[in-house]
Amino acid sequence: MQVAVYSTKPYDRRFLDAANAGAGHGLIYLESRLALETAVAAAGAGAVCAFVNDELRANVLEALAGQGTKLVVLRCAGFNNVDLVAARALGVTVARVPEYSPHAVAEHAVALILALNRKIHRAHARVREGNFDLDGLLGFDLFGRTVGIIGTGKTGAALVRIMRGFGCIVLAHDLRADPACESLGARYVPLAELLAASDIISLHCPLTPATHHLIDAAALTQMRPGVMLINTSRGAVIDTRAAINGLKSGRIGSLGLDVYEEEAELFFRDLSDSVIQDDQFARLLTFPNVLITGHQAFFTQDALAAIAETTIGNITAFERTGHALHEVSVERLA
Ligand code: NAI
Repeated sequence: MQVAVYSTKPYDRRFLDAANAGAGHGLIYLESRLALETAVAAAGAGAVCAFVNDELRANVLEALAGQGTKLVVLRCAGFNNVDLVAARALGVTVARVPEYSPHAVAEHAVALILALNRKIHRAHARVREGNFDLDGLLGFDLFGRTVGIIGTGKTGAALVRIMRGFGCIVLAHDLRADPACESLGARYVPLAELLAASDIISLHCPLTPATHHLIDAAALTQMRPGVMLINTSRGAVIDTRAAINGLKSGRIGSLGLDVYEEEAELFFRDLSDSVIQDDQFARLLTFPNVLITGHQAFFTQDALAAIAETTIGNITAFERTGHALHEVSVERLA
């Protein structure tokens, strides 16, 4: 099957080529992001392979379907960038990679927690300058602290296991309790209780209409002063403006972000010679207690290999049977 692969980076090629070796699909690698203007590059391709910041709104899907695209394979777990209602109406199947390495994302959340708590980013810069002063680097023991995990699917569950290993009290909030997380010692509580009782809050729910700005000004006022907030899910789960106000007031003691509401204009490219036009993002960068990574939580060898294999598997299954292995349905939006 001919597949137009958008937002391709060298590492995508490496892992997709390896996974495709036995399957023999025609992979057309495109560096550009998928948007209305770039959809034409997929003309004649039965499938389009897209990543987190590719746009798959109704007008883009219409353009793709008009050119013969029948399948959209996402090489990610989240599907908030796809208009599933439009895809269904157009007869375009949407598939994703529901699971590749939940450990990769959970471990990155832990990297943010540890770095922020022990101020590793600041310590590193100081030591390189010959400054060995400890003032300003004071952290706290994780042992005995309360960690609130919102969304205990695959990633959240992996984080429950790790944080229990640190000796933390783990509170969880999800639409449904996972007995496996409970047996690890997590206690499911209403959101308000989790917000009020946690020293660290980590977000692992998908971006849906219900979770859009889940962490807003009202939610922040319910949190403990000095709370550590970690987001490796999707940027818009946090209202950035409210978070900036929370940082200014001290309600948020530290903020670790791997995702950002307007990241599509920034992440996954080298902008080091440009002036950042996004004033909210630039403001975030001024806080000493904010640590941002550019959507790299998934970025391990193990995860990339698994993403490539599942993506090729989705394409092969669709070509053979008319159904991908991991289709996303409109119902999942609920
Ligand atoms: P998952 O689908 O296994 O788990 C999501 C969990 O969130 C489910 O248990 C679900 O019931 C729960 N949930 C849904 N709505 C909720 C709500 N309103 N309140 C509380 N819980 C709710 O997904 P997984 O693999 O754990 O990933 C979670 C999210 O992380 C993905 O949707 C994706 O957006 C993001 N992600 C980010 C990556 C990165 O590199 N930063 C990589 C992979 C995923």
